[in-house]
Amino acid sequence: MKQSKNWILVSAAVCATVVVALTAPLSALSHNDDKALITKANALFKPLPASDALENNELTPLRVALGKALFYETRVSSDGRLGCVTCHNAAYHGADALALSVGIHGKVLPRNAPTVFNTSLLLAQHYGGNRATVEEQAFKSLLSPLAYGNTSNEQVEVKLAKLGYAPLFKAAYPSDTKPVSVENWSRAIGAFERTLMTPAPFDRFLKGDAQALSKSAKLGLEKFISTGCVGCHSGVTVGGQSYQKFGITKDYWLITGSTPKDAFKGYDKGRFHDTKNEADAFMFKVPQLRNVAVTAPYFHDGSVETLPQAVKVMAQLQLGKQLPDEDVTHIVSFLEALTGDIPADFAKVPRLPAAPH
Ligand code: HEC
Ligand code: HEC
Repeated sequence: MKQSKNWILVSAAVCATVVVALTAPLSALSHNDDKALITKANALFKPLPASDALENNELTPLRVALGKALFYETRVSSDGRLGCVTCHNAAYHGADALALSVGIHGKVLPRNAPTVFNTSLLLAQHYGGNRATVEEQAFKSLLSPLAYGNTSNEQVEVKLAKLGYAPLFKAAYPSDTKPVSVENWSRAIGAFERTLMTPAPFDRFLKGDAQALSKSAKLGLEKFISTGCVGCHSGVTVGGQSYQKFGITKDYWLITGSTPKDAFKGYDKGRFHDTKNEADAFMFKVPQLRNVAVTAPYFHDGSVETLPQAVKVMAQLQLGKQLPDEDVTHIVSFLEALTGDIPADFAKVPRLPAAPH
């Protein structure tokens, strides 16, 4: 009895050794694969910083809080109903989930609203890159007839003072001789935006946590690199760092079903509308792909509804490739690993100053 028990123990030990011998090289291999993929990915992408401070506009809590209030403030727009938050909402991960945004007096904008998260890190703002920084983006929206629709900077400054913002501006920019200014309005909103970083599982992976990505996401990352997506979508924001032609293999609208827009007197030609240079025709800023899985619909006009469809369109239009469904599934898993948490401070609605009666 004792002997047979020992025999069982011995054979179990032998079995265990065999199992270990068989699986060890495999798991070691996948461990090395993970390490190699992390190294490869770090050469192409970068983890997000905690925030994106500017030298001349330190992100003090008072500035960020003021910027947040102004981001949510609708009473500065010409119809009193439109704020940044109307089109860049927490419920839709910093975007608005519409194909085309709706501006003041119900005017339909010619483009889809991208998320505001991580955007200060992009090479410029807007699809045509006609706004250099998030501050300039905010500044120009005040007088834009499609956005806030104000007629002059003075008009905006008077509104801000009347709404009771003066103490907040003074506290945030104490050394300014004229704290309530459209410049400080933009700087404060910029300060707020520069805190809206959304670290995702992919950042943990880049920092060495191989378990942060599922097997499918890792295969997707490999495909994203080997298929050539990374040629345009790389860097800290997985895109957003260059202008590229949209529709390299054929006119984009043949695949996306995009329609001509009055604002562009035809199909949207991207950067051309800002520079008037023929060489920029159909050049668009490559969008960041952070949070792309939760910011449908896709492309500059929201013409494509789903992410798998958008991935197929990209492969076809930009790389002349028909991706098998399996590859699309894995790439989508990778893109899902770029979804970060909504910044806690963004989701919580601020208390706005009450206008004096
Ligand atoms: C009526 C809807 C609407 C409102 C209001 C609005 N936006 Fe936007 N936003 C858009 C659209 C549409 C675009 C894309 C414009 C383009 O590419 O030509 C955009 C682009 C941006 C971008 C550039 C993102 C990128 O990836 O290039 C930033 C940053 C931004 N908005 C911030 C703001 C801020 C700050 C406010 C308030 C001052 C604001 N937006 C108000 C619709 C809106
Ligand atoms: C040659 C450059 C280039 C390549 C290669 C490329 N893209 Fe793009 N990508 C762009 C540009 C430019 C846009 C913006 C097009 C537009 O909306 O006008 C874009 C848009 C996207 C969008 C939509 C983002 C949004 O917020 O609407 C997704 C998703 C995307 N690309 C994924 C991919 C994938 C996956 C691959 C590889 C199969 C890929 N891209 C290859 C340049 C490229």
